[in-house]
Amino acid sequence: MKIQNICCIGAGYVGGPTMAVIAQKCPHIKVTVVDINESRIAAWNDDNLNNLPVFEPGLDQVVQDARGRNLFFSTNVDEAINNAEMIFISVNTPTKTYGKGKGMAADLKYIELCARQIARVSKTDKIVVEKSTLPVRTASAIKSILDSTGNDVKFQILSNPEFLAEGTAVDDLLEPDRVLIGGDPTTNEGKKAIDSLVEIYSNWVPREQILTTNVWSSELSKLTANAFLAQRVSSINAMSEICEKTGADVNEVAKAIGMDSRIGPKFLKASVGFGGSCFQKDILNLVYIAKSYGLDEAANYWEQVVIMNNHQKQRFSDNIVSTLYNTVSGKKIAFLGWAFKKDTNDTRESAAIKVADNLLSEQAKISVYDPKVIAERMYADLDYLNSRGSDENRDLLSVHKNPYEACEESHGIAILTEWDEFKDYDWERIYASMKKPAFIFDGRGIMDKNQLENIGFEYYKIGSGE
Ligand code: UDX
Ligand code: ADP
Repeated sequence: MKIQNICCIGAGYVGGPTMAVIAQKCPHIKVTVVDINESRIAAWNDDNLNNLPVFEPGLDQVVQDARGRNLFFSTNVDEAINNAEMIFISVNTPTKTYGKGKGMAADLKYIELCARQIARVSKTDKIVVEKSTLPVRTASAIKSILDSTGNDVKFQILSNPEFLAEGTAVDDLLEPDRVLIGGDPTTNEGKKAIDSLVEIYSNWVPREQILTTNVWSSELSKLTANAFLAQRVSSINAMSEICEKTGADVNEVAKAIGMDSRIGPKFLKASVGFGGSCFQKDILNLVYIAKSYGLDEAANYWEQVVIMNNHQKQRFSDNIVSTLYNTVSGKKIAFLGWAFKKDTNDTRESAAIKVADNLLSEQAKISVYDPKVIAERMYADLDYLNSRGSDENRDLLSVHKNPYEACEESHGIAILTEWDEFKDYDWERIYASMKKPAFIFDGRGIMDKNQLENIGFEYYKIGSGE
């Protein structure tokens, strides 16, 4: 099937950038990204590219190249589905917050709604591509809904998980390590569907990096990749605590082990804990799947990655309290960073949220500066935890547009995100404006210890026992 029209349902962190790059690289294909969220679509259509709903370095340029030419953002979901030969499902799959599997399993209600809508609207044969991360065998559920409720049109289901990381999404999409396509090569139609998606990516990805597998391997590979990556972070974070007690430095340890080509240097940065929409959700999902097959040892093994991550966030805030003479009640603590990593405005599962919540429960006053996250997002993140009323969250936590103002009169500064600009601040000025002794708790290990200690700061770096 020659693809001329693509529809993507879901204009979020995955759907938006992915489709923008496909449109840029395939000017002969019309790509329409649809979403039920009207303000999100309006933001994608905003003339001012600074207002795009997703901040990603380089994304504004890609959108500018393709938007209005062959890239369109719309709320007319039915029309886009009907016009497309290929439909990507890129909607959110959060952890279930109710019923069976609560807190563990993926909530597939948005996926199912999409499948039903596609079935209802489609009048011609379609290839449906799962882009969202899904539990293994979701494709069979989608197929069953499409086949039993459709208008007698034929559907092929492919799994094409997205491996982009936020903050580097555009580079990851332009030069992916690999593209993974799961399908059913045992039938002619299945083979053709796989080929047509391979052809799309071949416009810019070398063929040998486009991997085809069966659907189940593809679905499970995505969960496995995220589990392995998260496990590396929890492993180095577990070492960070041991380093602090033994006088070792976790960065030196990471460098030493990373030079072993079997281990490799990437993803060994100790931190206040991983965040993001994927790692915790996908591991819990994996744990749930393993448990549901009675595989308790495998389930417990992977769950430990999340337990370690929770511990890392907890011990970071505990350390702030104990260092500040066992009480932070009424004390101002400045947060530099709220996003779950640098170069994104996304805060989902960010360590900053949990650390803030812990300190607010100790009656601290928090003042936050983040270059890209807006105040309402921060308050929504805290309100969602339900630890206290939303008025109290607004009373106790203030959000600043200027980092110097956020740090003024504070007893300590906690660095929660590794934004590059933090390193270049006038730290002498910040020191002069703070209460003494002035503490810095570097949850990302980005600052220069000597420089800060020479100024007079009491400096704590995650994973450093010196
Ligand atoms: C991740 C996967 O990398 C990506 O392939 C998948 O498609 C989605 O999930 P993302 O969550 O966007 O991407 O960012 P990532 O760079 O993986 O970072 C996740 C979290 O781990 C962040 O909070 C980051 O700060 C933390 N991290 C990462 C560390 O603490 N140390 C590291 O060495 C690497
Ligand atoms: P991700 O990080 O996986 O991209 P997001 O939450 O950023 O997740 O984006 C998912 C998007 O999918 C949201 O903008 C949401 O409004 C949209 N969405 C969810 N269900 C539907 C649906 N049935 N039809 C259209 N859009 C949907």
